[in-house]
Amino acid sequence: MMTRRDFLSQAAVTAAGLVSIPSPAQSAESVKHLAPPQKPVIVTRETGDNTIDEAYKMLLDGADTLDVCNHICMGREDDPNDRSVGYGGLPNEDGIVELDACCMHGPTRTAGSVGAIQNIRHASLVARLIMERSGHVMLTGLGAEHFAVMYGFKREDLLTDDARKMWLLWKESRSSQNFWGPPMSAPGGKDANPAPSLNHSAIPLHPGPKWAELIRARSQQLTAMAADLGIPEHKRATAVNQILWPTTGTIHVSVVNTKGEMSGATSTSGQAFKIAGRLGDSPIIGAGCYTDQDIGSAGATGSGEENMKVSGAHTIVELMRQGMSPKDAGLEALRRIARNYNGDMTKLRYLDMIYYIVRKDGAYADCSLWSTTASGTPKVFVVHNGAKRIENCAFLLTGTTTN
Ligand code: GLY
Repeated sequence: MMTRRDFLSQAAVTAAGLVSIPSPAQSAESVKHLAPPQKPVIVTRETGDNTIDEAYKMLLDGADTLDVCNHICMGREDDPNDRSVGYGGLPNEDGIVELDACCMHGPTRTAGSVGAIQNIRHASLVARLIMERSGHVMLTGLGAEHFAVMYGFKREDLLTDDARKMWLLWKESRSSQNFWGPPMSAPGGKDANPAPSLNHSAIPLHPGPKWAELIRARSQQLTAMAADLGIPEHKRATAVNQILWPTTGTIHVSVVNTKGEMSGATSTSGQAFKIAGRLGDSPIIGAGCYTDQDIGSAGATGSGEENMKVSGAHTIVELMRQGMSPKDAGLEALRRIARNYNGDMTKLRYLDMIYYIVRKDGAYADCSLWSTTASGTPKVFVVHNGAKRIENCAFLLTGTTTN
């Protein structure tokens, strides 16, 4: 065992007073001297805007890797039609939008995080502000909002009209259990049409022919309620889906440049209709995002509660440190999620998880718990390493979540 005296005699103390610390002992030979990629690499999800191309140009022009992550996150935070991030994100069960975000900056080995912040749309920038302008790593709620406002962030109502109506639909769909929605004296009121609870627990866990029938019946019921609430016809299917399968969307971006510098950032409005104050994985350093300047960067979108239990992003980076490829590391983290349910497919069907991974040398992977979306198309991600491409995710389980 190394004594303190041994340690001090081994450590080279420089004139600046720095102690030379050996590299982490566990790093596999294969990752000890990873050469930077010849071209920068961005991994993220499809954004439907130009920010990924713009971000790549920023990298080519020498921008900091975290600026690049923030640029893509801000595009999602600004989009009123993205139901899972920033302005327009679906609110908590009280109808209030609460955002989570975190970031890690590889070169400076620093991190910032914000949880359950209200009224400030660019949560990813607030996480960075906390990293750069406070002695803390994480702020939440009112304290985080005050901190952001004192640095010039503007307060605004983040609940769009569309999101408000979806929330109303969700609230009224539980009208057999509360006082929201038409009274029994109204046509189609509670007694005339006692809508059963539409939450997950009311849907049998065992998918089967009856299950599909039940979902169809509830979709029809919700569609009628959506019409009654004034949700336009072309928006009803989306609204109904959000009630049946509340979103866990999120944006994560991991980046490496040609110097091998890396950063990661994650931003979300979290699980739709969550209990006020709930934090998912997105603000948790090591779950929603983790960057180690020696190894790589990883982040997650999907079921936050599950990802937190396996510290997904940190697990992946540590497995890469031990020599696993990005793909193998991502699949192993997913295996741990499946293990937490003893592989019970009737429960795993309710979970969704995608990991976005880039190694210091530019090797990358995206790993999804499930192979396909509800409509049967492969789960995909976006990579930009000179040209922007949509690629299929590697996956652990064949099939889809219930949504
Ligand atoms: N992954 C986003 C959340 O669960 O909040």
